[in-house]
Amino acid sequence: MASTQTTTSAAQSESLSFSVNGENVNIAVPGIRRLARVLRDDLGLTGTKVGCDAGDCGACTVLLNDEPVCACLVAAGQVSGCEITTVEGLASRCPLHGRLQQSFLIHGAAQCGACTPGMLVSATALLEKHASPSEAEVMDAIGGVLCRCTGYRKIIRAIQDINVGSVQASPEAGAAVGARLIRLDGQKKVDGTEVFGADEIPKDALAVRAIRCPYQRAGFQFGDLDAFVALHPEIEIVLTAKDVPGVDCYGVIPRFADQPVFAHKEARYRGEAVAAIVGEPLGLEALDLRDFPVQWEELPAIKTMEEALAPGAPLIHPHREDNVLVRGRVVQGDVDRALSDADFVVEAEYETGFVEHAYIEPEAGFARRVGDSVEIQACTQSPYMDRADIAKILGIAPEKVRIIPTAVGGGFGSKLDLSVQPFIALAAWKLNRPVRMVYSRTESIVSTTKRHPARMKLRAGATRDGRLNALDFSADFNTGAYSSWGPTVAGRVPVHASGPYRVAHYRALTRAVHTNIVPAGAFRGFGVPQAAIAQEQVYDDLAGKVGMDPLEFRILNALDNDSATVTGQVLGEGVGIRACLEALRPNWGAARAQAAALNAQARGPLRRGVGVAGMWYGCGNTSLPNPSTVRIGLKRDGRIALHQGAVDIGQGSNTVVTQICADALGAPICQFDLISGDTAITPDCGKTSASRQTFVTGKAAQMAGSKLRDEILKKAGSCKCGVIEFREGVISVVDNGVATQRDVSTLPLDEYGYAITCDATFDPPITALDENGQGKPYAVYGFGAHMAEIEVDVELGTVRVLKVTAAHDVGRAINPTLIEGQIEGGVAQGLGMALMEEFFPGKGENLHDYLIPSAGDIPAIESILIEEPSSTGPFGAKGIGEQAVIPTAPAILNAIHDAVGVRTHKIPATPDRVRAAILANADGGARG
Ligand code: FES
Ligand code: FES
Repeated sequence: MASTQTTTSAAQSESLSFSVNGENVNIAVPGIRRLARVLRDDLGLTGTKVGCDAGDCGACTVLLNDEPVCACLVAAGQVSGCEITTVEGLASRCPLHGRLQQSFLIHGAAQCGACTPGMLVSATALLEKHASPSEAEVMDAIGGVLCRCTGYRKIIRAIQDINVGSVQASPEAGAAVGARLIRLDGQKKVDGTEVFGADEIPKDALAVRAIRCPYQRAGFQFGDLDAFVALHPEIEIVLTAKDVPGVDCYGVIPRFADQPVFAHKEARYRGEAVAAIVGEPLGLEALDLRDFPVQWEELPAIKTMEEALAPGAPLIHPHREDNVLVRGRVVQGDVDRALSDADFVVEAEYETGFVEHAYIEPEAGFARRVGDSVEIQACTQSPYMDRADIAKILGIAPEKVRIIPTAVGGGFGSKLDLSVQPFIALAAWKLNRPVRMVYSRTESIVSTTKRHPARMKLRAGATRDGRLNALDFSADFNTGAYSSWGPTVAGRVPVHASGPYRVAHYRALTRAVHTNIVPAGAFRGFGVPQAAIAQEQVYDDLAGKVGMDPLEFRILNALDNDSATVTGQVLGEGVGIRACLEALRPNWGAARAQAAALNAQARGPLRRGVGVAGMWYGCGNTSLPNPSTVRIGLKRDGRIALHQGAVDIGQGSNTVVTQICADALGAPICQFDLISGDTAITPDCGKTSASRQTFVTGKAAQMAGSKLRDEILKKAGSCKCGVIEFREGVISVVDNGVATQRDVSTLPLDEYGYAITCDATFDPPITALDENGQGKPYAVYGFGAHMAEIEVDVELGTVRVLKVTAAHDVGRAINPTLIEGQIEGGVAQGLGMALMEEFFPGKGENLHDYLIPSAGDIPAIESILIEEPSSTGPFGAKGIGEQAVIPTAPAILNAIHDAVGVRTHKIPATPDRVRAAILANADGGARG
């Protein structure tokens, strides 16, 4: 950055001088302008991220002189004469930074990368003072920077281990699968150049601010909007429902689409948009939205599922009887009879709350009109679904909408739904000007989807010898005001509520219920984590009644290759749950013995407990088509263009899909040019959800790679056993020891501009479910089991998780480092779900009150990778993203029971709930 002289247009600017990354800056800005804004908007240093603008997330951490500070809390006027270092300047400031970056890459410490700049800056400040910090010192140093993806363990390791060495050259041809390859998109994440939704905005872009309902239900009437616009020269237009040229109704599942861009006459939840103001960014920012001419009439709202389901309750959507969006059902055998025949029966009810996704990057992006088309560059998990909905809203053909996903700073399911896209698309379409929108943290929390709260009832039966014989499960899920992914949750849970066990007699009935609350949608696991919380605790209690060890009870009942699932599916291969549970045995025995010994001697308030839980998860959509298409092109320079549209939201699909394709083709990774999701240039790889990208897109990439290999061999006149060598502009095929050289630089180009192009589509082989939910809902399942070691303070009700051992059957570990990252991140989210995370609509709409685990909350995590391959998956691989979160919470809750003999039937098990359960327990809970 050259010495900078910048002036903003805002009033009351003052002239300030300071240094940024070693260069002098003279700038005229209001002294109260946030330093984060100055760095990003005025100086273009977008490596500094803004996740909350309130000092809660640490994403904006920079060095002020030598101290890490939140740039969102520092006023520009305070830094006059100071030295600022941002992530972009770390390398020149500090020789160890290069090693730190390398260490982050090698350890897989950056997933989505939204927290990475803040982590690197905080780590630099620490390492400049302590060359070899302890784990506690590292945790302390990064304690103010939140990460929602990694579970912090790899970040801590990377900071402690900066002398780990250099990034290795990419593996040889044929050796990519199974290699701990660093992320192919990693460098940008560690040097601050990754482009997220808010990072690249056309200079002349207008801004949008949405007017949102402040009540959980309200009628509304606009005043004189024209007069309001006339009064405010900074405003170009106010948009309302009448401005939507197409169909003002969208939704991720077209059959259930019910959500308007702008509410019509009545808003159904707090945070629903009724209008949008579009105008000049600084002026719009200064606008007091309380002046907007809208009159609200607060209406009685349905706030709970009890109210929604009560006889005679008003209907939130008139065509949805009883406020039930959809029902799910899987039934097998005769569950009532089996329960009456059972030697032991356990009955229980569990309730879970709303959980906020809390990704570090709030929703953001911009749109521009290009002739009769519109282009949207925004963070999203599902470009082709966005395209379909935006086309419908604008009343134009899908081909006239181009979606260019930015890097996604965490999604976990919520960025499958539209957020900023309809507002910016509509405004850009109407005004023929680029328009941007960046959600504030509060706007993100009030208006985007949550994990479904669940109310679950269970009865489970077992025989005297410990065999599960029946489960009767029913659950209601609060899906909020609009459908979003409610049908998917209601449909997936009945298939999974048995857990990965043989249950001959089974009934699982679910309902997704509308309320006047922000919609609940997809969140890692689609309802299965909630079901696992209930089912795994009930199974533990059943094991206790039988008198069996909980781990051995599960091993006894685990599914095998030849056993039927509750939908009557016999997988025949790749059923790894027994192996996962057995892998825990050594740690389990030792930890249980240690806990018992410690509890026997306990004098103070601490009690140890050890718990286990299993899980299974079908990869991809439930009994629905689920295709991915991958295109691969041989370029004239001999390089390979891989068009894969799977959006990498931090989980690593860019890297994993390339590894798979490289080995199928027989080319080294370094030969690949990756062309990621863009609906104009990459075929549809479906959405990034349901643990489908490694499995489905990976399989399509494997098929495309094999096809290209076959084509090259055919063109070289070689048999299929020929070996291809890729060099610049030349390809050699060695067949029976004879090398044939082919100069690809002279080959004619096809319609895609490649010498050879191959497309491949994979759609997993599944069947529809019948009226009892019987059939083949998924082609492949992932399996796993977690063991949690915890300590409860019986006086305070607090729970500290000491260690989680996580065994996962991933079929084939395409990239073990990335898989461990998914597991560790899943454990952290599961810990949050078990112990601290609950969103109360209308309250705590920020990251200060809504607590997610920080580095200091995270226990030791030991990952054990099991490989029971599926012949359907690429090189045997299955998914891991959703799976990783499922067993953690029930394992922790079972460990609490092991420690103090109580359960909280409302989750999370917060200290007040744990303490209340201990007090309510007849013996006070202090066993041992
Ligand atoms: S953006 Fe500054 S702490 Fe979150
Ligand atoms: S990698 Fe930390 S928030 Fe995504």
